[in-house]
Amino acid sequence: MSSTQNPWQEDRGNKDRSITRPGGSEIIDPETGHEAHPAPGTPFLLAENMTGGYGAADILHGCTLKVEKGQIAVIVGPNGAGKSTAMKAVFGMLKLRQGRVVLDGKDITHLSPQDRVAHGMGFVPQVNNVFPSMSVEENLEMGAFLRRDDFRETMEQVYDLFPVLKEKRRQPAGELSGGQRQQVAVGRALMTRPKLLMLDEPTAGVSPIVMDELFDRIIEVARTGISILMVEQNARQALEIADMGYVLVQGANRYTGTGQELLADPEVRRTFLGG
Ligand SMILES: Nc1ncnc2c1ncn2[C@@H]1O[C@H](COP(=O)(O)OP(=O)(O)OP(=O)(O)O)[C@@H](O)[C@H]1O
Ligand SMILES: [Mg+2]
Repeated sequence: MSSTQNPWQEDRGNKDRSITRPGGSEIIDPETGHEAHPAPGTPFLLAENMTGGYGAADILHGCTLKVEKGQIAVIVGPNGAGKSTAMKAVFGMLKLRQGRVVLDGKDITHLSPQDRVAHGMGFVPQVNNVFPSMSVEENLEMGAFLRRDDFRETMEQVYDLFPVLKEKRRQPAGELSGGQRQQVAVGRALMTRPKLLMLDEPTAGVSPIVMDELFDRIIEVARTGISILMVEQNARQALEIADMGYVLVQGANRYTGTGQELLADPEVRRTFLGG
């Protein structure tokens, strides 16, 4: 395999060779048949004032998250803060009592998760994110289930990004190491050619070396123009690569800033980064 085939390593500005959809960044609104685009000054993803929960009590209290095109936004915060709940809300797995979700200029607040995938969202959940008894390749094919076109090229791009998956493509995903399973999960989401890739704790349970490698791959994906929204327990390392960081506490925004600003903030360091 030559590195010239790898869209994440070469021709970074050339979207024709990336998993971004042909024609650049536009999203076609299936209702109008027209391209939707954010108004000037509106971020690529705007999840605004999200309020809601699983039953009577709200978990999210006016949570707002934004991701600019091709940037990496990281959500950190204590266990139970509502980070996964916020991700589910952005993906449409949680009915909001208040707030809205706007992707590339289109209000998708009332769309199902499947319709959000069709609009360019890819989601890797925190748990159960691969089919363990299915092979690596079958897992990737499952990611392409909404596509009517030929997805072979995207699969090759995923294999270029994560070469070990090509070696192990016939093996059941459940036999892979934790880090490799996370690669399968990310690869599966990339098979939909998302414009926004959402990752809930992609480095959970992996070694620091594997974590660094996965973060490098995520940076490569972002450089192709894909926006990343990621929850991370490894807060310090994740903020190092974050364009924007959000500290969530009890379902609300506590601190917001660039990754560097949050890393430099004494209060954030003392309370959330262990000094
Ligand atoms: N399916 C559910 N039904 C009811 N309550 C839930 C459900 N999932 C999560 N919760 C509750 O919502 C709150 C926020 O949980 P959430 O999983 O979003 O937190 P988190 O920040 O992702 O935590 P962690 O760091 O442990 O992953 C918690 O009090 C949790 O018990
Ligand atoms: Mg969580």
